[in-house]
Amino acid sequence: MQRFPSIVVRAFWTMLPAYVPNNAAVLAGGGRPIDGGRTRDGTRLLGDGKTWRGATVGTAYGVALALVLNALGRPIGAATGVSLPRFGRAALTLPLGAIAGDIAASLYKRRSGRERGAPVVGLDQLDFVFGALSLTACVAPGWFRRVFRAPVLVVVLVLTPLLHVGSNLLAYLTGLKNEPY
Ligand code: CTP
Ligand code: MG
Repeated sequence: MQRFPSIVVRAFWTMLPAYVPNNAAVLAGGGRPIDGGRTRDGTRLLGDGKTWRGATVGTAYGVALALVLNALGRPIGAATGVSLPRFGRAALTLPLGAIAGDIAASLYKRRSGRERGAPVVGLDQLDFVFGALSLTACVAPGWFRRVFRAPVLVVVLVLTPLLHVGSNLLAYLTGLKNEPY
């Protein structure tokens, strides 16, 4: 049995490359929207909240962070006794999947008539997790099964919404985001 604190550290470490992209996108966002302004039935496909710059810069930050974590994993793992995963293909699939999950959620939100920025409790907190996990499971299934064992998955699904709410509140209070969610 792994101890609970080490499972939490492992879950957080593993998901960091998926946590950073959408926050980096908030900082980097602006410019050309991904949907190019296209509409269907009079409604934007994604809206001005999903931009190429946000998506590419966000993904790049996530990949860079995964590489930094790869360099730090061995010494920190040795010092703490927590076994930390190395990111291979997941260094790309976690950030890219997180960005794609957020974009897919915007597509759904616009189709269901929700304005840009409208909150959807649950979806807003977990869209990027589902994106990151499913893309990683497809591209690196062996790595996925080894790293995301049931206890780690459960911690990810509980911890992520809490972190998401906290970081968005911070972005709202500091004026980076228009809504606190
Ligand atoms: N952002 C971006 N590109 C992305 C994701 C986010 O430029 N791929 C930036 C946008 O400036 C966006 C902000 O980050 O307004 C906040 O992101 P998010 O909450 O995901 O977008 P919303 O504006 O709330 O739009 P939506 O309703 O589609 O989620
Ligand atoms: Mg939003």
